[in-house]
Amino acid sequence: MLIFAVESSCDETSLCLMRSNGSILSHIIASQEIHSKFGGVVPELASRSHLSNIQQIYKNCLIEAKITEKDIDACCATIGPGLIGSLLVGSTFVKSLSMTLNKPFYPINHLEGHILSPTFNNKVKFPYLCFLLTGGHTQIYLVNSIGKYKLLGETIDDAVGEAFDKVAKLLDLPYPGGPSIEYSAKTGDINAVNLPHPLKKYKNLNFSFSGIKTSVNLHIKKNGMNKNLVKNISASFQNKISEILIEKLNLCLQELKNNNVYVNDLALVGGVAANKFLRLKIKNECTKKNINLIVPPKKMFGDNAGMIAWACIQKLKHSKIKNDLYFRPNPRLEIENKL
Ligand code: KG4
Ligand code: ZN
Repeated sequence: MLIFAVESSCDETSLCLMRSNGSILSHIIASQEIHSKFGGVVPELASRSHLSNIQQIYKNCLIEAKITEKDIDACCATIGPGLIGSLLVGSTFVKSLSMTLNKPFYPINHLEGHILSPTFNNKVKFPYLCFLLTGGHTQIYLVNSIGKYKLLGETIDDAVGEAFDKVAKLLDLPYPGGPSIEYSAKTGDINAVNLPHPLKKYKNLNFSFSGIKTSVNLHIKKNGMNKNLVKNISASFQNKISEILIEKLNLCLQELKNNNVYVNDLALVGGVAANKFLRLKIKNECTKKNINLIVPPKKMFGDNAGMIAWACIQKLKHSKIKNDLYFRPNPRLEIENKL
């Protein structure tokens, strides 16, 4: 079976042609450069950019895959959560295509795409623990099986990627903030700046990141900004994020143990999981706890249609999805929503 997938929930126009055995015929991720000068994604510009690019990317995708559109067996698209204009462009394009080709249309939850992405390149044993770390979400899931996800904790304010982006903006580093901070932190001192560890005294699995951003802001106001300070704040901030994630991991493992739930694997998914420093710190902790750290292939950390195609294939295999041309895109779609 050949699946065509589109991901357009934010500022990446991504298309993928994937066979049901996971072989990728074409996987294109077009990141929209236009937002960098604004220091963040401008929703209206994002939808316009999807609209002007998607047709040409589709043609390129078919050429790269060396197929004609008649070879496509099923279509799927991200239908939420995300920016409504962007979701509408991608999903309406795919719905029209599936009507023209008379092939099924499967709506896919963006978060589920991220959550299942490490099953593409790892043999996992259910249940596994999943830290979803993106620009819009920071959540911990217990993945019991394909389609069965238990939300154990989430951020009560900013998402972790949002915190990277906002701190980068305060430091005058380019957007997206994650990669900029990771680079700047390489030559900084992790102990230079004392940043808060929000919610430390509450023994629950929720996160809070807005206080760290405020603390960085106050530190800059008090000490001014110079090259060294930028490096040191980057390193201290990134290190604090690793401490927070590790603290939650340990709390989570303890809580699961108390409920007689044992996991073999910890999955880190989403754009922030691309951060090598965070991964190394968490990997060291996993080794101590005798847990396997799994991540998706490099191309599937950030937003991409490969993970959407793969989630669709997994859900079809387990009969967890229905052809539904009338599923409306939902900017606030939650994972518990049955698709
Ligand atoms: O998963 P993603 O591409 O999109 C959403 O679903 O939100 O995540 C985007 C986020 C951005 O906030 C970006 O700054 C962050 O992932 N990010 C990183 C790194 N690369 C991307 N954060 C930390 N370190 C990185 N290397
Ligand atoms: Zn995402």
